[in-house]
Amino acid sequence: MKTISIVHKKGGAGKTTLAYMLASGALNLGLKVHLIDGDRNLQLANWKHRFEEYNWEIERPQWPHNLTHENLHGSIDGLYEALDKAERNGINLTIIDTRPGSNEDTEDIAYAADLILIPLRANPADYELAKSTYDWMVALRSSFPDMEQYPEIRMVLSDASKGIIDAMAPESDVSKITKSEYFVLSQLMEMPFLDTPIPASKVCEQLPFFGPLGPAAEAHEKNKGTKLQSKSITKILEFATGLSKETLRYGGSV
Ligand SMILES: Nc1ncnc2c1ncn2[C@@H]1O[C@H](COP(=O)(O)OP(=O)(O)OP(=O)(O)O)[C@@H](O)[C@H]1O
Ligand SMILES: [Mg+2]
Repeated sequence: MKTISIVHKKGGAGKTTLAYMLASGALNLGLKVHLIDGDRNLQLANWKHRFEEYNWEIERPQWPHNLTHENLHGSIDGLYEALDKAERNGINLTIIDTRPGSNEDTEDIAYAADLILIPLRANPADYELAKSTYDWMVALRSSFPDMEQYPEIRMVLSDASKGIIDAMAPESDVSKITKSEYFVLSQLMEMPFLDTPIPASKVCEQLPFFGPLGPAAEAHEKNKGTKLQSKSITKILEFATGLSKETLRYGGSV
């Protein structure tokens, strides 16, 4: 089993969106996925509930049987128990969301992971806090004598414009991106990051209600009036799948 923890000092940085994307991609790859919510507002743990309450207007898709969730309450022992149980249940990937701030519980969650992901929006203010989160995680890792390299830490470009996504491709044209985007992109290139970005999209905004993207795309495809929407969901699912595939390269097998 692989465990990914998502951290960022700032609220609203895109942590939970990244968790939804990773879960969608991993399910699309046929993996068994478990979500652990380490945030007190329980955005991630309530994903299924929100999906069920959503006014679908079309036939509601089935919640995938290979996606489970729980919220983390209590001590660090509770976290290790949850991870042991997930492993015994044959989970391939556990994704843990955290709350904003520089909290000790976030350090515990980060330390329990094989891979730590930090979402990053392409503006200088967000970059500063993402970089500071990265430095915090590196310092935490080096405070453990046998943890010089692991867990691995990667930034993920999130809420990215089409311009910056195009600019990330090799030998690309950077003339269409803003100065802020250029600044962040050039900083990002100096750091460990995942090649696949998360696009800025309405579909990402809808993720709290859509549930995992694969079933949501299929449900919209079946319905005459929502085929176009199915296309845009499928497009974002491609990014989600790319992202999940990339994470498989880091820190242990699934
Ligand atoms: N790729 C994206 N495209 C469009 N909107 C996005 C994208 N990523 C995040 N957002 C929006 O930004 C807001 C904050 O995102 P999210 O809830 O994922 O952040 P968070 O770090 O989990 O926040 P918190 O710290 O409050 O838990 C949400 O309204 C979300 O829909
Ligand atoms: Mg959140």
